[in-house]
Amino acid sequence: MSDEPLLKVKNLTKYYGARLGCADVNFELYPGEVLAIVGESGSGKTTLLSTLSANLEPTSGEALYRMRDESWRNIYELSEAERRFLTRTDWGFVHQNPADGLRMTVSAGANVGERLMAVGDRHYGRIRDTALDWLGRVEIAADRIDDQPRSFSGGMRQRLQIARNLVTGPRLVFMDEPTGGLDVSVQARLLDLLRQLVGELGLSAIVVTHDLAVARLLSHRMMVMKGGHVIEAGLTDRVLDDPREPYTQLLVSSILQV
Ligand SMILES: Nc1ncnc2c1ncn2[C@@H]1O[C@H](COP(=O)(O)OP(=O)(O)OP(=O)(O)O)[C@@H](O)[C@H]1O
Ligand SMILES: [Mg+2]
Repeated sequence: MSDEPLLKVKNLTKYYGARLGCADVNFELYPGEVLAIVGESGSGKTTLLSTLSANLEPTSGEALYRMRDESWRNIYELSEAERRFLTRTDWGFVHQNPADGLRMTVSAGANVGERLMAVGDRHYGRIRDTALDWLGRVEIAADRIDDQPRSFSGGMRQRLQIARNLVTGPRLVFMDEPTGGLDVSVQARLLDLLRQLVGELGLSAIVVTHDLAVARLLSHRMMVMKGGHVIEAGLTDRVLDDPREPYTQLLVSSILQV
């Protein structure tokens, strides 16, 4: 891991009118690091992820991102065009529901190829070869390249969404419950695949999950949220094996009982 962060988040706060979404969130994310955000329903996980990925404007606070040219920019002060460029090239977003992150009525190959075209690749043969390579990496058979994702299973759709997001070589990927809607055996394989790809590519990632097993497998560090606040943060193994806050202790023990 590099010794300079990729992202520095300072006092990030989001209110929906008078209702608190998340408040006073502070952390730094390093290259190659995976951060899990966990907490009960309504604790502010999605609010925080949507704000971090610039889909929501914060009420206050900032998120400084180290651009490829090494300049630091507050993502909330980027122009619309700069922000769009960042989300297409440097970032990925894996939605819980693959239908939200895929185009369901174009082919699997086009779903992957489209992202390459968005970053300026115009060479049809090369785009198809890269798409084919990525389908292989996410274990989708080459002969499915011309099929539409609506003919895919849930697990295949999620793997296609991952390929679409990673093909452009992003530096930071946001994931909201990436294994959420899948059955347990499919979840396990997908997690394995994700862990392998993230490691191979040296990606930084921020993963929202209510599943502590997902946090354990994927993340280096984690933040525990409750009522919009981060109540505990630290190395994943430390937080899960030796939780300090009573709420985290409860969360860890109640999961063990399931
Ligand atoms: N668009 C919105 N308008 C108003 N309040 C909202 C909106 N989205 C979320 N909230 C509120 O913000 C708080 C945090 O919600 P959020 O969706 O971030 O929780 P979460 O941790 O992602 O929950 P879950 O695990 O159920 O997805 C809740 O009180 C919620 O009611
Ligand atoms: Mg949520």
